Amino acid sequence: YQVHISLVGSDKMRVTWITDDDAPSVVEYGTSSGQYPFSATGSASSYSYVLYRSGHIHDVVIGPLNPDTVYYYRCSSNPSREFSFKTPPANLPIELVIVGDLGQTGWTNTTLQHVAGAAYDVLLLPGDLSYADLYQPLWDSFGRLVEPLASARPWMVTEGNHEIEKIPLLEPRSFKAYNARWPMPFAPSSSDSNLYYSFDLAQGSAHVLMLGSYADFAPASPQYQWLQADLARIDRARTPWVLALVHAPWYNSNEAHKGEGEAMRSALEPLLYAARVDAVFAGHVHAYERFARVYNNTADPCGAVHVTIGDGGNREGLASDFAEPAPGISEFREASFGHGRLQVVNATHALWTWHRNDDDEPVVADQAWLTSLASNPACSGKTHS
Ligand SMILES: *[C@@H]1O[C@H](CO)[C@@H](O)[C@H](O)[C@H]1NC(C)=O
Ligand SMILES: *[C@@H]1O[C@H](CO)[C@@H](O)[C@H](O)[C@H]1NC(C)=O
Ligand SMILES: *[C@@H]1O[C@H](CO)[C@@H](O)[C@H](O)[C@H]1NC(C)=O
Ligand SMILES: [Fe+2]
Repeated sequence: YQVHISLVGSDKMRVTWITDDDAPSVVEYGTSSGQYPFSATGSASSYSYVLYRSGHIHDVVIGPLNPDTVYYYRCSSNPSREFSFKTPPANLPIELVIVGDLGQTGWTNTTLQHVAGAAYDVLLLPGDLSYADLYQPLWDSFGRLVEPLASARPWMVTEGNHEIEKIPLLEPRSFKAYNARWPMPFAPSSSDSNLYYSFDLAQGSAHVLMLGSYADFAPASPQYQWLQADLARIDRARTPWVLALVHAPWYNSNEAHKGEGEAMRSALEPLLYAARVDAVFAGHVHAYERFARVYNNTADPCGAVHVTIGDGGNREGLASDFAEPAPGISEFREASFGHGRLQVVNATHALWTWHRNDDDEPVVADQAWLTSLASNPACSGKTHS
């Protein structure tokens, strides 16, 4: 079935699932188990990839939904499988899980077990989902593997390099499987591409930018223009937190993928800095690293905190080779599998924690309090109008 859900606007949810046969694209739902007073109808699509043909990929948006409420639902009127999810709260606090480069290994399983033990509202994934790497049935097994979590909390994703799956001549269109299987709400944020978009949490208390490391980001590009317009719409008096996700890190002291995020950093970092983006989360490097607030490769109290959280459980192993000595702006780094949590407590404070898979679930391996740049007079005064 491969059910997963994602946020659409402030009070709707997209339900995505796959059936082998031509089942109806209907979601029935309600707030009591076994009772479905509401229903919504959407559409189904499929794609082919070389000799592979996908099942029917259903896409249904349900709502309006109440905040912080458990809903029970079933897909295609299947009486034997009931799912449930909880909607995020309408106000702070809100808790986010952030984990990149997930894959589907034994390490992934451990990460998912740890994530399942967290009381969180929304999961953010900065790219590299299934590691199908052209072999499409691995997208299906990934969908089944994450279903218990991804059907219960919204999963908001952006693309990594393993999603590209382009084969010259045979499959010239990039992101074919990713775009078909993981549709994200790009249109509501005036983006024209599933590869970059933004959304609000808790009625705009936090604005999240899901940037595309593998979409053009040069100043004349659609992504650049969209980002500029999106940032200009943010009212920091109403939105104390602005977060961003990318796949390839802009700051990275690991030997793996060294410098790969540099072109995107130099193109987009001035926009994020002017808008006083609070934190940027990346994947790609299979390790954990947390930087100080930085701008243009230099410590800067009004720059973003950068975190690499690409240690979800990919099949390529850990990236253990860090450059020595650690640069002064790198505050914590370690090559271990795990996941991160960002607890946005109120308009001024958020707590970031990193949880190693090797530790018991309540153990915090690294933590840092963030104070929002909007609440820092030395930075907010310079915010662009
Ligand atoms: C991970 O979990 C899935 C389902 O829970 C199971 O089928 C799979 O064998 C596990 N993989 C590994 C490598 O342990
Ligand atoms: C960033 O730093 C480099 C070299 O340190 C400098 O040449 C460049 O002008 C700086 N860019 C910005 C936008 O400040
Ligand atoms: C915000 O949360 C922090 C950390 O818990 C706390 O110290 C601070 O007093 C809170 N601020 C307000 C306005 O409640
Ligand atoms: Fe990657």
